[in-house]
Amino acid sequence: MESAEKVRRSRAAGGEDPVPGVAHVVLVMSGKGGVGKSTVATNLALALARKGMRVGLLDADIYGPSIPTMLGVSGRPVSADGKTIEPLERFGLKLMSIGFLLEDSKAAVIWRGPMLHGALSQFLNDVHWGELDYLVLDLPPGTGDVALTLSQRVGVSGAVVVTTPQQVATDDVYKSVSMCKKVNIPILGVVENMSYFVDTAGVRHELFGKGGGQAVADFAETTLLGQLPIDQAVREWGDKGTPVVQAAPDSPVAKAVAQVANSLHEVLTARADELDGDDGPIIDRSGGTGGKRRLPVQK
Ligand SMILES: Nc1ncnc2c1ncn2[C@@H]1O[C@H](COP(=O)(O)OP(=O)(O)OP(=O)(O)O)[C@@H](O)[C@H]1O
Ligand SMILES: [Mg+2]
Repeated sequence: MESAEKVRRSRAAGGEDPVPGVAHVVLVMSGKGGVGKSTVATNLALALARKGMRVGLLDADIYGPSIPTMLGVSGRPVSADGKTIEPLERFGLKLMSIGFLLEDSKAAVIWRGPMLHGALSQFLNDVHWGELDYLVLDLPPGTGDVALTLSQRVGVSGAVVVTTPQQVATDDVYKSVSMCKKVNIPILGVVENMSYFVDTAGVRHELFGKGGGQAVADFAETTLLGQLPIDQAVREWGDKGTPVVQAAPDSPVAKAVAQVANSLHEVLTARADELDGDDGPIIDRSGGTGGKRRLPVQK
């Protein structure tokens, strides 16, 4: 397993950085509700953990937290030192969700903007995330207000945008891509969820049309990280609290998520190389023939 000391950051972390031990901070978002953000965030986090990464998953959906149900966790976080909160753990993931703090998980949370942003800040500042390769954030649907707040609180690596293939979904997704561009959140890639359905005879059906994911990726000038099939097992396992990547790692949908995790990791490793991490600039002594040429610079 790689250690955080060796893992290069793919994000700019300033002096005020609330999660100094985290190499990559990834927002999972979409302008559209119900496209599978929480499903993708949860399964992607597990797929990264199965690659040997140390992964945290933060449920940034304060109004409609999904992580407690999807991961079957209902405990209450404790504080060992009276200052920081220990995240809960499940399947090797470190977890935090507003759902762990509510008395009644079915009660409505009526919070106004400043409280919402305060809660998100606390989840970053006061939770003891420690050393992680990845912190994956499951965002609520909507305009991108939460993404903007988060990107102001913590240096993010960027966003993974989730969409479904059809036109009505992609229209809303374009808006969130534009918002990211405006506030300089890099789009790391697009995941097209519910792309197709394979029937018992093995015939593939594109129930919701096709091409949406690639169109969003083109618009965002990024790559399509993968396409996930519609599979009843995804919802069933999600409802049971064991995501499909954990419950059935050899299923086609779990393999497709693993592929997304591999592609994302490649993207972030390349970004970390460009940023040169915290190790200072790389000095290329090959005379420019050994890849990217970098010169020593004064810090
Ligand atoms: N590939 C899939 N195959 C089958 N069911 C899926 C798939 N992806 C998601 N679902 C189901 O669709 C529903 C919505 O998914 P999910 O909650 O992940 O969406 P979301 O974008 O996070 O929603 P919200 O906008 O409410 O946060 C869930 O019941 C989930 O189990
Ligand atoms: Mg969700």
